[in-house]
Amino acid sequence: MTLHQSLAEAIVDGRAYADGDRIDEVFRRIRSEAPLDIAEPDEYDPFWVVSRHADIKEIERQPNLFHNGDRATVVQTKANAAKIREVTGGEANMSRSVVTVDGKEHKDLRGVLFPHLTPRSVRPMEDKVRKIASEFADQMLELGGECDFAKQVAFLYPLRVLMAFMGVPREDEPMMLKLTQEIFSANDPDLNRSGKQLTPEEALQATLASMAEMETYFLDVTTRLRSEPDGGLNSLIANARIDGDYLTRRQLLSYYVTVATAGHDTTSNATAGIMWALAERPHLFEQIRHDRSLIPALVDEGVRWVTPVKHFMRAATADCELAGQKIAKGDWMMLCYSSANRDDLVFDDPYEFRLDRKDNPQLAFGYGVHVCLGQHLARLEMRVLLEELFDRLASVELSGTPARTISNFVCGPKRVPIRFTAC
Ligand code: HEM
Repeated sequence: MTLHQSLAEAIVDGRAYADGDRIDEVFRRIRSEAPLDIAEPDEYDPFWVVSRHADIKEIERQPNLFHNGDRATVVQTKANAAKIREVTGGEANMSRSVVTVDGKEHKDLRGVLFPHLTPRSVRPMEDKVRKIASEFADQMLELGGECDFAKQVAFLYPLRVLMAFMGVPREDEPMMLKLTQEIFSANDPDLNRSGKQLTPEEALQATLASMAEMETYFLDVTTRLRSEPDGGLNSLIANARIDGDYLTRRQLLSYYVTVATAGHDTTSNATAGIMWALAERPHLFEQIRHDRSLIPALVDEGVRWVTPVKHFMRAATADCELAGQKIAKGDWMMLCYSSANRDDLVFDDPYEFRLDRKDNPQLAFGYGVHVCLGQHLARLEMRVLLEELFDRLASVELSGTPARTISNFVCGPKRVPIRFTAC
């Protein structure tokens, strides 16, 4: 059996994710009709669509049986998968980062930043984060009652926090934002390089060009940070040694680029989605205004609601069985996090935005050995910004129609027009 073609095509179509209702309906059907089945969209190699929360966890629990690096970690057309192998000299992924490797290499690379991003290491960052959050909250209030929260706050605040911890100067932030948006949003004419709808081949070329630009920037940074280490995340990457050696050029540049992109765009999407959800739910806004202890629950529900990373891929390293299906060695599996986060076997009323979920088991940060390295920083950033905003805001409502980015990978709201009043 394979998935109905219209469902298979929708899963890889960024426009379906931009129209939130459409992708919700697609995954609702998949979970009820064929929760683990093969999709064969036109121009793609077949892959299993893993739509259930439990099946994604089962896969992520077994990193030796389901590898990240053997095939593309992000879904690609056949032509683009071949192109990537051509430009990388045979590797399945554009980058060789913590996300795209397995086993010892993964453990070693993860170990470079892991100790610096644990809850305990992140806690002392709160003062610095709050200073940035309070500046952004003040600036928003100065906008005079209306703004595009996505563009004017949510895209910029996590970028400033991350760049501050990486050690990237403020004047380079616009360039970092532009390159990140080009890398993650090559299919969206509002955010890509050309301002046009691109074919998959053109989108890959554009992504590779933006990645190369970012890598050139970080190459210079490495030389400086090796002679003058400064304790920032970039400096940790530049000076990291595995078995006595610095990271290879490809590991090094991939690491910077992964953190410099995934470390803010994801958080921006979640932050923008939280404000969108609040603007449509005045009762929740009021409830939180009177009980700030609900903010951590708001953050987790917001992350579930938006699920900024729509999928990652894995490849089976041996024949095996999962949820009654026979998986063959080499099979490609799409872990559909946004579907898992609407799974009614796990969430009551999955299509409701609720603050009373007990230990919200959302999977937006993934699970297992690859679980998001930045999740504690991301949670801290969002909580602190929301605390600063709730100190200042009396009401929020939508003042226009929000819009989401066209993408099947990392994406969320790109426009959230709001009207607000101050306390
Ligand atoms: C709301 C914000 C964020 C979301 C939704 C998110 C989501 C994810 C997801 C789904 C994964 C893959 C997990 C898996 O394969 O099981 C991941 C991995 C990763 N994330 Fe995040 N992320 C966020 C914020 C951040 C931040 C702030 C940073 C950096 C400071 C970061 C750095 C990373 C890194 C380096 C990995 C690779 C970990 C590994 O493969 O071992 N992320 N993230």
